[in-house]
Amino acid sequence: MRLDAQTVADYIAEYIKERINQFKPTAERPFVIGLPTGSSPILVYKRLVELYNDGKLSFKNVVSFNMDEYVGLPRDHPESYHSFMWHHLLKHIDIPPENVNILDGNVDDLQSECERYEAKIQLYGGIELFMGGIGPDGHIAFNEPGSSLQSRTRVKTLAYETILANARFFGGDITKVPKLALTVGVGTVMNAREVVVIITGANKAIALAKCIEEGVNHMWTVSAIQTHPRSLVVCDDDATLELHVKTVRYFKSIEQVQDEMIGRENLGLYGQVAGPLKYKNVPSGN
Ligand code: GLP
Repeated sequence: MRLDAQTVADYIAEYIKERINQFKPTAERPFVIGLPTGSSPILVYKRLVELYNDGKLSFKNVVSFNMDEYVGLPRDHPESYHSFMWHHLLKHIDIPPENVNILDGNVDDLQSECERYEAKIQLYGGIELFMGGIGPDGHIAFNEPGSSLQSRTRVKTLAYETILANARFFGGDITKVPKLALTVGVGTVMNAREVVVIITGANKAIALAKCIEEGVNHMWTVSAIQTHPRSLVVCDDDATLELHVKTVRYFKSIEQVQDEMIGRENLGLYGQVAGPLKYKNVPSGN
């Protein structure tokens, strides 16, 4: 838990930087990352660009797969997810264009496009880290309520709530928002070796509560991360509004213990501890 959207973004960007640098990617063994659009990741992308400009991170051997794309919106439309990704991240960093994968919502055969995408992810040996945001109805990518938690990349009809939420990008006119999208499935996201979800703002508060306080449920598709062996939700104060006070205290306390025992700087080290544990009675042997 972090104070606001900026501190959430800083945390996630640092985390991703650590993961990529630890992985030591090469052209033969690239770091494969799944990326979202939406307003939530914008600050993360801004920080990643800064880290790249500071020479702390390179995307030369990174391969990206975006989560989703609207159907029928021209690729160069300012609100297409292609445009979004190039504008906010891709054109500012050293990722080779051929390493960028974004679903094409303008092909004749949408089903084949989805199958091609899944096959390409497999070709790279799967996704190392999938970053995601969520909609106010708890959807991840465009996996609207009721999506199978085993779903794969496919065409999806957007929920009215999502069309309404996304109308702000189309001058507030819901008739201009595409009604169909191509999206990776919940199963595609959950197959990544690690999943990191950004949840910020009071409008995501109910979804966060459903995601972490209640059971796994296809009506709140992001709740599937409860079954993922390596998943992380990073939220801000506003997003915690609907959580029980007990839940907030619980997560704050385990984070505090983690900080005290291991150190916040070691969070990205895949469970390794850099220095000796600060706990007196914990055996230090392996
Ligand atoms: C769209 C995207 C999702 C994103 C969601 C939330 O529906 N398909 O991937 O998580 O918007 O966007 P925002 O971060 O703007 O609330």
